[in-house]
Amino acid sequence: MDATILNVLRDPAGVPFFPVVFQGLYILTWALHAAFVLLALGSFGLSLYGSMKQKHDANWKVLNPHLIQTGKLSISLLILLGIAPLLFTQVIYDAGWYVANTLSGAWVFIFIYALIAAYLMFYWYYYANKRNGGGGTFIGLISFLIVVFCGILMHNFAVISISTPDQWMEMYAPGGVIDTSGLNLAWDIVRLAFLVSLAIPVLGIFLQNYSDFVSTKSDYSADFVSFTRKLGNKFAVIGLLISAVLFVLWMMQENLLMHPVSLATIVSVVILLIMAMFLKNSYITTLWLVVVALFISGIRELIRYNIMSGLGYDLYGYPVNLEIPTIAMFLSTFVILGFTGVAYILTMAWKVGKLENGATLDGTKSAAVTKLGNITLGLFVLWMLIYFAWGMIILFKNTL
Ligand code: HEM
Repeated sequence: MDATILNVLRDPAGVPFFPVVFQGLYILTWALHAAFVLLALGSFGLSLYGSMKQKHDANWKVLNPHLIQTGKLSISLLILLGIAPLLFTQVIYDAGWYVANTLSGAWVFIFIYALIAAYLMFYWYYYANKRNGGGGTFIGLISFLIVVFCGILMHNFAVISISTPDQWMEMYAPGGVIDTSGLNLAWDIVRLAFLVSLAIPVLGIFLQNYSDFVSTKSDYSADFVSFTRKLGNKFAVIGLLISAVLFVLWMMQENLLMHPVSLATIVSVVILLIMAMFLKNSYITTLWLVVVALFISGIRELIRYNIMSGLGYDLYGYPVNLEIPTIAMFLSTFVILGFTGVAYILTMAWKVGKLENGATLDGTKSAAVTKLGNITLGLFVLWMLIYFAWGMIILFKNTL
């Protein structure tokens, strides 16, 4: 089978901007999704251990509720941040993505309900743990396993979408008999193990950040700061070593070990390891982690690009139906409104976190919070006016 089917399955309306830009945005936004998937898995996983220790150990008593909070927020962020790469995948690789969603249609439904069930159970775990000052481990474990299951399903969709049309035919009609169950499953154990293993170093670097953050506050003892720092160092170093081995295995399997992007990823991981071991300021390590995450996201895309172009799918030849207003609206929403809004929320969160002895933040007393709040609100009002006015103009232009 040649690439005709893949090229025919493309959207006849074309894409509104150059495919390479969507490809770049895919790499960027998937890295963001992955960051919170890994932080969720890491903090949630460790909190299960902590929930058993927390009643008898003063350090775990302080740390564990924070781990559970981190897991809770990360799940909501990973869901939100999963939407962007989903959109970019279906814009430039629509053929693969829709076929995966058809062949695995039943799993797509199961995924949604499983995620809802897992998140509801997480709240059960959270409240049970909060009320009793510990525990809730059993329900937490079930929720955690369902979250992992969701990750396996996500991996299944990714693997099917980069399979060849011949493999799709084999799934669609094994032995010539059509299978409409939508229950196809495919996985690549090394790839999955590598991606999931990254939760360990991400948790480690997060704990190093956490330790640096609480070290400046008087309500946390020096013993607690050193406890979290040591825990963070251990997870970061051991985790990075495990992930590095799995990455090399994955690259060997993909015949990409000597590819410049793969070599650059390995070098960046080694630098990260050195930083995690010796650097005093963990926030700098986190900035470097962002670079590593972009390389890993880039490798995933490289694998897909190689497979698809090997089949004759011409990504950069995707018909472009240039629509400057749409792309301008998208980018200004993403960059101007998005970045300002996130800066506002982060500034506030940082300041709340730095308050001592349960004090409450009065945003009006902080010049930065007030200024960012006003700018965000102003931009948001402007955005709504432009968005709706523009929509109305187009609607009337098309209908009158
Ligand atoms: C607990 C829930 C989730 C977990 C644990 C999870 C985990 C993962 C993992 C491990 C991958 C990489 C798979 C691979 O490359 O082999 C992935 C990819 C992806 N995830 Fe998620 N995910 C979750 C929820 C979501 C949600 C709710 C969305 C969308 C709103 C989403 C969108 C994506 C997209 C678009 C990809 C890339 C697929 C591709 O490149 O073909 N994920 N996710």
